[in-house]
Amino acid sequence: MHKDLINIVILAAGKGNRMCSDIPKVLHSIAGKPIIKYIVDTAKNINKHKIYIIYGFKGDLIKKKLNDNSIHWILQKEQLGTGHAIQQLLPYLNNNENLLILYGDIPFISKATLEQLCDKKPKHGMSLLTAILDNPSGYGRVIRNNNVIAEIIEDKDANSHQLNIKEINTGIMFANVKDVKNWLKRTNNDNVQKEYYLTDIIKIAYQDNYFIKAIHPFDINEIKGVNDRIQLANLERIYQSNQIKTLILSGVTLRDPDRFDLRGTLICGIDVEIDVNVIIEGHVVLGNRVKIGAGCIIQNSSIDDDCNIHPYSIIRNSNLSVKCNIGPFSHLRNNAKLNHNVCIGNFVEIKDISLGNNSKAKHLSYLGDSEIGSNVNIGAGSITCNYDGKNKLKTIIGNDVFIGSDTQLVAPLTIIDNATIAAGTTVLKDINTSDLTLNPKKQIYKENWKRPSKK
Ligand code: UD1
Ligand code: MG
Repeated sequence: MHKDLINIVILAAGKGNRMCSDIPKVLHSIAGKPIIKYIVDTAKNINKHKIYIIYGFKGDLIKKKLNDNSIHWILQKEQLGTGHAIQQLLPYLNNNENLLILYGDIPFISKATLEQLCDKKPKHGMSLLTAILDNPSGYGRVIRNNNVIAEIIEDKDANSHQLNIKEINTGIMFANVKDVKNWLKRTNNDNVQKEYYLTDIIKIAYQDNYFIKAIHPFDINEIKGVNDRIQLANLERIYQSNQIKTLILSGVTLRDPDRFDLRGTLICGIDVEIDVNVIIEGHVVLGNRVKIGAGCIIQNSSIDDDCNIHPYSIIRNSNLSVKCNIGPFSHLRNNAKLNHNVCIGNFVEIKDISLGNNSKAKHLSYLGDSEIGSNVNIGAGSITCNYDGKNKLKTIIGNDVFIGSDTQLVAPLTIIDNATIAAGTTVLKDINTSDLTLNPKKQIYKENWKRPSKK
């Protein structure tokens, strides 16, 4: 492992024209995480590092998203090319230091590959990460002279012979600051894109008799870049299939590995089963034998042993104890705490709520800002009226309460244990009795009434 401090620069000033987007390319995400964050995370794992990011196009968005004080930000006002980008940094570095150059659009580069690149740098020369690709189109091609790297030609500048070369430049390199300063000042923008190419330093180094050592990545996916949305979609699939392999091998059943997305971290107990089109976001923990039905979205939640989440349910920021039954079509919108064996059914939305053991709301309800005890039955269509237009108000329901269908619970409200509320009741004040609560209504019959007939 390299002993000296390593200056690591990540190039991220470009707009990424080929993305056809208003947001900088490096902020597009893979598995819910911005592309550039993958690179920053890997850079941080390298021993003794100092990280610089070259920013330009909507750089403030990048700064805000990363929100990381340990990063040194270097502005590239105009994006005149990758060589010009590095030139903005060089005044801040000492001649006796070294520089590892990473590209903000190559997210999967590994620590092991980068360490190898740094360790293998020749004393009089630099190391360059290259790869052999069946389809090299789009990449700069590595031109060798008597098998020695002599030049890089950009795809757009290459002739038909050069376009057939399969060894490509990844852009990632490691060199002495003093050498890079010396080489870069001799580059120009005399090329198809009228840019100052960083890659032009290779030819100059070669002509100065420096040795350019080629290093290859451990895995070919490490060097794949994002230049357009097709490549972004491809990298998403590569990333997903790697995570999914790990999950399956750890004992999780995925009904169809191609129809599952993990955008965060998932920890599973034994014999967990996940049906198709499930999305997991943030940090999710599933206990033993949990079943997740088709089309569910689960975010930042923990679901304990033997819970069954039926299809098309959404669960966010919630904690479920053992043996809960959720869905189909339930929405645990935020901060639901469910005790043992709670049942939340079809078209029920709940938020900021706790429910005690065995309590049930099985059909068509909205329950918010509530504490609900054990063995409570919430009848179909019952709702908490928890909002007065300005404030959220609380509903507290004791144990063994029975709430008939289509009840409106107008908060703030407290209902004691064992209360019973008849169907269709509007509860306007606290219930302190276990007698039946109901609103008087009268059922009448209209004589001689006829259904309208079509005119
Ligand atoms: C670059 C390399 C090419 C290599 C490929 C690998 C050059 C000239 N070409 O091409 O040889 O095969 O990467 O993926 O280096 N950037 C700036 N400032 C600028 C221009 C770009 O910071 O003025 C940043 C971009 O934000 C991006 C990175 O540099 O993160 C690479 O730029 P991009 O335009 O994607 O270069 P490629 O065409 O991919
Ligand atoms: Mg690129």
